[in-house]
Amino acid sequence: MDFSGYGLKRKNPADITDNPITMFSRDWALVAAGNRERFNALTVAWGALGTAWGNGRPLAIIFVSPSRFTHEFLEREKGFSINVLPVEFRKIMGYMGSRSGRDEDKIAESGLEYAFTERETPVFTQSRLILNCEKIYSHTIERDRFGETLKSVYAAPVFKGVDPHTVYFGEITDCWARD
Ligand SMILES: Cc1cc2nc3c(=O)[nH]c(=O)nc-3n(C[C@H](O)[C@H](O)[C@H](O)COP(=O)(O)O)c2cc1C
Repeated sequence: MDFSGYGLKRKNPADITDNPITMFSRDWALVAAGNRERFNALTVAWGALGTAWGNGRPLAIIFVSPSRFTHEFLEREKGFSINVLPVEFRKIMGYMGSRSGRDEDKIAESGLEYAFTERETPVFTQSRLILNCEKIYSHTIERDRFGETLKSVYAAPVFKGVDPHTVYFGEITDCWARD
C-alpha cells in the first residue's frame, strides 16, 4: 500500500533502526486488529522484534491478555498492526491503554487517523513506524512455567482481573516508516 501521502515510506523490516526494547517499554505501541467494518486497538508495552522459522524471517511478538477487547479481534483476524506514534501522542496512548473499546468507540474518541493495508489490516497513519504482521504462532502464558522472579506476576495488584496473556508471533510482512 502506498502511504507516501501520509509521509510514510516502505521499509525493509531488516532496516528497522528502533531499539526494540525502548520501542515497546518506553515509547509503547498501538496494536490494531479487525476489519473495515469494526476494529479495535490497545496500547502495549510488552513486545519484541526478532527472527525465527526461516532465513531471517522478521517477527514481532506481542502479549495481549484475553481480558482485552482487542484480543477478540486478534483471535479472529489473520493479522494485526503495530503502530509506534510520535511522542506528542503520549496522552492518546494513555487513553487507548486505559479504556476499553467494549465500552466506547475509542478510535473515534481518540481522533487517531487510520487506513488499511493491502492485507486489510487497520493501521494508524500518524505513526512514525508501522508493522503489518501476519499471525504465525500463538500460545497462552502458562503460570507454572514462570521462573522464580516471575512466579507471582499475575498475583500483583496491577494484574488484578488480568488473565495470563496470549503471546502472538507475527511475521512482519510490510513495514512503513517516517523519515
Ligand atoms: C503503557 C501501557 C502498556 C500496556 N501494555 C499492555 C500489553 O502489553 N498487553 C496488554 O494486554 N495490555 C496492555 N496494556 C493494557 C491495555 O492497553 C488496556 O487494558 C486497554 O484498555 C485494553 O483496551 P481494549 O479492551 O479496548 O482492547 C497497557 C496499558 C498501558 C497504559
